[in-house]
Amino acid sequence: MKNTTTTRNVHVWDRFIRVFHWSLVACVLTNFFFMDDGDTPHQWLGYAASALVLARIAWGFIGPRHARFSDFFPTPARIRRHLADLLSGATDHHDGHNPVGALVMLTMLALVLSLGLSGFLQTTDAFWGEEWLQELHEMLASTLIAFAGLHAAAAIVMSRIERTNLIAAMVTGVKVRRGRADGR
Ligand code: HEM
Ligand code: HEM
Repeated sequence: MKNTTTTRNVHVWDRFIRVFHWSLVACVLTNFFFMDDGDTPHQWLGYAASALVLARIAWGFIGPRHARFSDFFPTPARIRRHLADLLSGATDHHDGHNPVGALVMLTMLALVLSLGLSGFLQTTDAFWGEEWLQELHEMLASTLIAFAGLHAAAAIVMSRIERTNLIAAMVTGVKVRRGRADGR
């Protein structure tokens, strides 16, 4: 059989999602690596990250098809099917998020909101100087960074498996899938 290659382009990520993603990355990484002493710029960046997440949650209900939670919500059945397909070597393609990626994404959204809340509480009279809250805030931040590392690594690995540059797609909005003419 001739090994001809084909490409299939699918527009998946709207402009809001792309701006949201890279702005969130900038806020989170800057806060974690460069502004970790809790001063005013740190607080504003943290609130900006939280506001981005709240807007993303609204977009998950009113945005276009692949932005909607209903398109990728990781139900146990969807996760099981995705893992079974991966283990059997079949590449089960998702134009939007795959269910495991979606689970990680939702966890990261929850972590950013928890950081916003635990950060805010540290600025209130009631919780000022509470050590356990500072430790919780720090632990949430480290967990978020660990998930983000896993997430970025998974994006690289899945790009290879799916023969689609998923990172470029988060920049351009378009998933370009390189495949073979025989569909494999
Ligand atoms: C993306 C969101 C955020 C991330 C990733 C983040 C991360 C961090 C990290 C890594 C630390 C340093 C902990 C240490 O080494 O002692 C820290 C400290 C702190 N953060 Fe955040 N933060 C975020 C949001 C916020 C928000 C929204 C506020 C407040 C409005 C806030 C208030 C503080 C304060 C007051 C400290 C100092 C705590 C201490 O004295 O140990 N953070 N944050
Ligand atoms: C602090 C760091 C990061 C956070 C908090 C984060 C968060 C997210 C979130 C929330 C989404 C879902 C997008 C949506 O539907 O709204 C997402 C998707 C995505 N992110 Fe990140 N991200 C981070 C870093 C990165 C990095 C460094 C890369 C590149 C290596 C990356 C590549 C991607 C890709 C390719 C997708 C789409 C996955 C797919 O095709 O289903 N992310 N990220």
